[in-house]
Amino acid sequence: MILGPYIIELPKIHDPRGNLSFLEDNHQIPFAIARTYWIYDVPGGEKRGGHAFKTQQEFIIALSGSFEVVLNNAKEEKRWLLNRSYYGLYVPPGWWRSLENFSTNALALIVSDKMYDPEDYIRDFSIFIKWKQ
Ligand code: TYD
Repeated sequence: MILGPYIIELPKIHDPRGNLSFLEDNHQIPFAIARTYWIYDVPGGEKRGGHAFKTQQEFIIALSGSFEVVLNNAKEEKRWLLNRSYYGLYVPPGWWRSLENFSTNALALIVSDKMYDPEDYIRDFSIFIKWKQ
């Protein structure tokens, strides 16, 4: 069964010296990590993403600051505000996704179960809608 997107709360080790969170393959997130990348220095008003992945799964965390993740599966659009480093959004394959409304100094960490593969992208929304049918 393929689940939809959902928020995953990560462990949070409280400490007066500063808090610590972590994630591990197939424990806190439902896949093994092949790649990590991050998005930063986003100018005000800019959007990232604007594409779908055919097979790739992702987990997105706001390590710093805040931004919104907008997901569309050709039937409905959903929006999440990420603004804490101890939880993130699991995004299954087959969702059109954008990152929007970045705060100053926002840092988006994305972990993925696939190496970078341009063939896995759908970058045209009308092609995405056809592909979903
Ligand atoms: P892209 O995924 O389109 O960025 P976004 O969805 O955030 O707008 O990637 C932008 C560029 O960076 C594109 O030319 C491909 C390159 N890139 C890599 O080389 N490796 C990667 O892991 C990622 C995510 C992107």
